[in-house]
Amino acid sequence: MTNSGRDLRVFAIANQKGGVGKTTTAINLGTALAAVGERVLVIDLDPQGNASTGLGVPEEARHVSTYDVLAGAAALEQAMTPAAVPGLYVAPSTRDLAGLEPEISAAPNRAYFLRDAINSLRASERDRPPHERLGYVLIDCPPSLSILTLNALAASDAALVPVQCEFFALEGITQLKETIDFVRSSLNPSLEIHGVVLTMHDSRTRLSDEVATEVRSFFGQKVYETVIPRNVSVAEAPSHGKPLLLYNHKSAGSRAYMELAAEMIDRERTAVAA
Ligand SMILES: Nc1ncnc2c1ncn2[C@@H]1O[C@H](COP(=O)(O)OP(=O)(O)OP(=O)(O)O)[C@@H](O)[C@H]1O
Ligand SMILES: [Mg+2]
Repeated sequence: MTNSGRDLRVFAIANQKGGVGKTTTAINLGTALAAVGERVLVIDLDPQGNASTGLGVPEEARHVSTYDVLAGAAALEQAMTPAAVPGLYVAPSTRDLAGLEPEISAAPNRAYFLRDAINSLRASERDRPPHERLGYVLIDCPPSLSILTLNALAASDAALVPVQCEFFALEGITQLKETIDFVRSSLNPSLEIHGVVLTMHDSRTRLSDEVATEVRSFFGQKVYETVIPRNVSVAEAPSHGKPLLLYNHKSAGSRAYMELAAEMIDRERTAVAA
């Protein structure tokens, strides 16, 4: 069963800590969801543009970007660029996005620009036949709690938090939880934490297991059972502009992201049934 026919689900992939696997998760979870028949849009909300590159959209092909969308110059539909996988799209980012904050700092609705853009997209999606509708939007957040991340959290049904299996994994997590609580109490009352995904787990080290245990005792049931292993193919794929599932579909990383997609869909179903 795909999500077509149900309303679009929007997830912010967020953690202000750098290099924890946000972009890798956005790319590969998006690909895995598309592989099981969903239509998925990855919104690149990081001026670094790593999700855009990893999904095969080079800088010269980013004609309409998320900067244009947030600056009110374009609709999200106009930024949607097909990725190499059928059913997967990316709204690419450019460096311009780094300059957005001062430009919008005086606007009273500055945290809602992305939500408004997604709402317009949602409205136009309802006119499409169910099998052509987008099922999921995944927002790749930058490593900061800036206005960009606030826009992502204000626009989302839920946050998905990657946590790297390394020392200091939980550093900054309290701040992230406080930010999510702040957004829930002010900008977006229905925001939840969908789940926490452990990334770059190295089964050869005891540290990885210790961190996993610590994260599970902190977040409890919110931690997905699926753990993403540290895997060389995961790191190599972006330099080929290909999602991992296309680069090496047999790798342990590919299998893990397929499992994560299945677990996510399962949680969605349980939530709907509850
Ligand atoms: N499972 C994995 N196995 C091996 N390498 C990985 C894995 N996941 C991510 N990496 C590598 O770790 C680095 C950081 O990952 P990624 O870019 O996804 O993190 P990020 O949280 O988006 O970073 P930033 O905060 O800079 O946006 C990248 O070089 C990526 O290729
Ligand atoms: Mg990133």
